[in-house]
Amino acid sequence: MSAPVAANPAFTPRIFSGIQPSGGMTLGNYLGALKRFAEKQDEGIETIYCVVDLHAITVWQDPEKLRHQTREITAAYLASGIDPARSIIFNQSQVTGHAELAWILNCVARIGWMYRMTQFKDKTAGKNAENSSLGLLAYPSLMAADILLYHTTQVPVGEDQKQHLELTRDIAAKFNHDYGVDFFPITEPLIEGSATRVMSLRDGTKKMSKSDPSDASRINLTDDADTIAKKIRKATTDPNPLPETLEGLKDRPEARNLVNIYAALEGSTPEAVIREFAGAQFGTFKPRLADLAVAKLSPITEAMNRYMQDPAEIDRILGEGAARADAIASPILAKTKEIVGMINSRR
Ligand code: AMP
Ligand code: TRP
Repeated sequence: MSAPVAANPAFTPRIFSGIQPSGGMTLGNYLGALKRFAEKQDEGIETIYCVVDLHAITVWQDPEKLRHQTREITAAYLASGIDPARSIIFNQSQVTGHAELAWILNCVARIGWMYRMTQFKDKTAGKNAENSSLGLLAYPSLMAADILLYHTTQVPVGEDQKQHLELTRDIAAKFNHDYGVDFFPITEPLIEGSATRVMSLRDGTKKMSKSDPSDASRINLTDDADTIAKKIRKATTDPNPLPETLEGLKDRPEARNLVNIYAALEGSTPEAVIREFAGAQFGTFKPRLADLAVAKLSPITEAMNRYMQDPAEIDRILGEGAARADAIASPILAKTKEIVGMINSRR
C-alpha cells in the first residue's frame, strides 16, 4: 500500500462515523465510539452518524432482526446524547449514493488490498473464505464510500478500524491520482482517549466483542445494574494490588484494561486513576468500578428503552437525517460521476 499522504487542509472539516446493526452493543462500542461521537458535537464541526445496514448484510441477517437492530443502534445514538438537531443521524441504505460510490471505488481499489484486511481474515478464519459473500470482501470499499461521499475529513473510531481507514486514504489517493484530480480528501482517523480498544473481561489480550461466545467477557448496553456489577466482580485479574505508577501496569493487561475503562467512564485519565487507587486491592477497586459503570450506563440503557417504545419516531428521525445526508452527498456523487466520464442528462 502507498505511503501515508498528508491530510488535505483545503476541505471543510466534517466528521462521519458508523456502527453496524449486527447485534447488541457493548461497553467497547460505547466508550470507543458512541461516547466520543456525542463529544464531537461540541467542537463546532458538522457531525454525521450512520447506521450501516448495507455493511451488516455482508453476513446474513434475519430481516426482522435487522430492522430491530437498526432502530436499536439509532436509540443508542440518541441515548448517548447525539442530538438530531446538531448531528445528522440516518441509516446507510436510505441514501443511495453510498452504494453508487462504492461501485465506482470497487473499480479503483485492488482485490489484493481487500484480502490483506485483518477484519476479513478474522471473519473468515476457520471457514472457507471462498464461500463468504463478495460483499464481505468488498466491505472496506463501501466503508471508503461512506466516508468519501461527504468529503469527510475526520472519522472517530476504535483501534480495530485503523486499517480500514488507512485503506480509505489509499483509495482516495488512487482515485485522485488515476483521474488527475484533487477531489477526495485524505481523511484523518481519530483514535483517541483511553478506551480505543476495550478488552474482554475474561482475557486482557482479546478485544471486547459482541461476537465473543462468553457473555461474561463483555458488558452489554442492555445489561441491568446487577449483571454489570457481577461481570465486573468476576472479571479476570492478577493477585497484585494496583501499582503506584502507570508503568507498573505494563505487563498486566487485565488490570490495565479495568483502569482504562474506569478512566474513560469517568472522563479522566489512566494516570489520574492510578494516583487515586495506588496500592489498592481489586477487592476495593472493582466495586468502585462497578458503581461507576452502573451510574454511567444505566441512564443510557433506560433512555434506549424509552426511545425503543416509539419506533415510528425513530424512523422519522432516520428519514429526516437521510434527506439531510442526501443533500450533502448528491452533488459530491454527481461530481464524481462527471470526473469518471459518465453522462448525466436526466432532468
Ligand atoms: P462495530 O460494532 O464493529 O460496528 O463497531 C462500531 C464502533 O465501535 C467502531 O468504531 C469500533 O472501532 C468500535 N469498537 C468496537 N469494539 C470496540 C472495543 N472493544 N473497544 C473500543 N472500540 C470498539
Ligand atoms: N466498519 C466499521 C465497524 O465495523 C463500521 C463502519 C462502516 C464505519 N462505515 C464506516 C465506521 C465509516 C466509520 C466510518 O466498526
